[in-house]
Amino acid sequence: MDTRSRIGRACVTLAVIALTVVFVKPAFAADKEVIPSVSAPGYKPAAVNANAKMVGAESCASCHAETAEKFGKTFHGRKVLSHPKLGNSCEACHGAGSAHVDGGGDIALITNPKKLDAAAASELCLTCHKEKTLTMWKTGSHATNAVSCTSCHNVHETTDRKNLAKGGTETCYTCHKQQKADMRLSSHHPVPEGKMTCVSCHNPHGGIEGNLKWDSKQETCLKCHGDKAGPFAYEHPPVTDDCMNCHKPHGSSSERLLKQNMPNLCLSCHRQPHSATRGGGGQGLSLTVIQQRGRCYDCHNQIHGSDRKPGLKD
Ligand code: HEC
Ligand code: HEC
Ligand code: HEC
Ligand code: HEC
Ligand code: HEC
Ligand code: HEC
Ligand code: HEC
Ligand code: HEC
Ligand code: HEC
Ligand code: HEC
Repeated sequence: MDTRSRIGRACVTLAVIALTVVFVKPAFAADKEVIPSVSAPGYKPAAVNANAKMVGAESCASCHAETAEKFGKTFHGRKVLSHPKLGNSCEACHGAGSAHVDGGGDIALITNPKKLDAAAASELCLTCHKEKTLTMWKTGSHATNAVSCTSCHNVHETTDRKNLAKGGTETCYTCHKQQKADMRLSSHHPVPEGKMTCVSCHNPHGGIEGNLKWDSKQETCLKCHGDKAGPFAYEHPPVTDDCMNCHKPHGSSSERLLKQNMPNLCLSCHRQPHSATRGGGGQGLSLTVIQQRGRCYDCHNQIHGSDRKPGLKD
């Protein structure tokens, strides 16, 4: 079935419900639930679509042919007839259009989500979208920084399922230049290689901590690096506290995503290791010797914790 006939069929459905109240109360046509169109706060339907009625997508297409054709290829467009929630097609998002049509395309009489503030534009999408991943949207740092659903999702221009203009990671890079630069450093999580993406660790829709997919930083790291989780017979306190005591999450110019090179990293906490007063077999190893012998890790090679020996060795 081509786009036009899909839109045509949507139109028949819409004719049935054309006289139904469209704003706040869901209407029903045959067995299809038709979701009210615009109910976004901040947007004033009274001024815009006040007395308008549904006219159907075919009418919109008569003037917006190119837009309608393109829309038919998007994920929402392809779902127009098969999903009860999208029965209203264009008007599900833009509001009832009769006034706009009668006004010869008067832009004051139709909703353009682009002109809504971020919260109102998002509210529009949220009237239908209640997915689990969106439960923390309103408190997440995107919503609270005026980033809206349409900052990332482009419902008109994309044909991929998630409506992401440039795929997930490129979408993130348009705003997050620092992380883009970090990912180019010599040590980095394999995002540039395509083995993982920003959303392997983040939920762009918000999270309990820093838009992370899991409840904390620690939980996030341990999802994939469970071997560092312990409990170990001999723990290293900074490891159980926060992996970010030593690592960077995105990229680093030090090997293994370390915050700084060894031995400086270790010396930032252990100012005088192997000092006589501390006892233990490490006594007498001067810093000069250690530096000659290489990295602290050469001997303390169970840096994340050891079950076998004290001193973080195996
Ligand atoms: C009689 C021709 C005509 C019909 C029918 C029509 N439009 Fe328009 N529409 C226009 C014109 C002209 C403009 C202003 C120029 C432009 O953006 O293309 C416009 C602009 C718009 C805008 C942008 C508004 C803004 O604030 O910039 C939206 C959204 C829109 N139309 C949606 C619709 C929808 C949805 C329908 C069907 C309910 C529809 N139009 C039917 C002619 C029409
Ligand atoms: C799922 C919601 C949704 C549906 C369905 C939808 N649109 Fe849109 N439309 C939007 C959003 C969101 C924008 C603003 C895009 C942006 O921010 O760049 C928009 C923008 C527009 C514009 C203005 C473009 C501009 O550059 O200002 C027109 C015209 C338009 N839509 C027409 C239509 C027509 C015609 C249909 C049906 C064939 C339709 N829309 C279906 C959400 C929708
Ligand atoms: C009138 C209801 C409605 C509105 C408004 C709406 N959508 Fe949708 N959307 C749907 C339906 C129905 C689907 C298909 C769901 C399915 O098949 O599981 C969908 C699918 C999607 C998907 C793909 C979901 C997936 O599981 O892959 C994304 C992303 C999406 N919509 C984003 C948006 C954005 C962004 C907006 C606001 C501009 C918006 N939607 C507005 C009804 C709506
Ligand atoms: C910062 C960018 C960004 C913002 C803002 C954003 N999304 Fe998403 N969204 C994404 C990405 C990236 C994915 C794909 C996630 C994946 O593949 O796991 C996605 C996926 C989705 C999906 C598919 C289901 C899922 O969670 O995978 C829906 C539905 C959706 N978004 C709706 C919305 C709505 C509604 C809003 C606004 C309330 C919104 N998004 C705001 C980036 C964003
Ligand atoms: C339209 C611009 C924009 C896009 C696109 C965008 N972000 Fe953001 N993001 C922001 C702003 C603004 C903030 C809040 C200020 C800051 O921390 O930089 C933010 C904050 C964040 C934070 C920090 C959360 C915190 O509380 O510390 C994370 C993580 C994040 N974004 C991830 C993503 C991911 C992943 C994507 C891609 C799916 C993405 N962003 C796409 C603008 C954007
Ligand atoms: C391996 C998991 C992981 C991946 C992949 C990842 N992040 Fe993060 N991101 C984190 C963690 C953990 C933090 C919190 C760091 C902290 O608080 O010390 C964070 C923090 C952030 C922040 C807040 C500012 C900052 O740097 O602390 C932004 C913005 C961000 N990430 C964006 C992105 C973007 C964009 C991508 C994709 C290019 C991405 N992240 C990929 C785990 C990840
Ligand atoms: C979604 C899975 C995933 C999550 C979550 C994750 N990582 Fe990774 N990590 C990887 C993959 C994949 C590699 C690359 C492994 C390879 O190339 O063999 C990697 C590599 C590493 C490396 C070695 C880098 C190198 O240069 O060899 C370190 C260190 C690391 N991760 C630390 C962390 C930290 C800290 C966190 C929490 C912020 C974290 N990871 C979260 C998947 C993940
Ligand atoms: C006290 C500093 C420190 C802390 C805290 C720390 N690491 Fe490491 N990590 C290191 C050092 C040093 C290396 C380099 C070892 C090497 O050269 O192979 C490393 C290497 C890694 C590697 C790559 C090599 C391997 O063994 O797989 C991963 C993955 C890793 N760390 C994950 C984590 C995770 C997850 C956490 C939090 C649970 C964490 N690290 C906390 C110091 C630390
Ligand atoms: C963020 C601070 C911090 C960093 C960075 C750090 N440590 Fe530790 N380390 C501690 C604390 C706290 C203890 C436990 C108390 C103590 O022994 O001083 C500890 C204990 C140790 C112990 C003794 C363990 C035992 O079983 O007796 C060794 C060995 C050690 N660290 C080596 C290292 C090495 C090697 C590095 C660098 C890769 C490093 N540490 C980085 C904080 C840190
Ligand atoms: C040539 C091997 C070797 C190197 C290299 C080395 N250590 Fe040790 N270290 C030891 C031995 C052996 C002990 C005694 C551990 C025990 O009790 O089993 C020890 C003990 C320690 C302890 C616990 C006792 C104390 O003195 O506080 C810390 C902390 C420590 N080393 C930190 C470091 C740091 C930081 C570096 C790098 C600057 C480093 N070590 C390099 C062998 C080494």
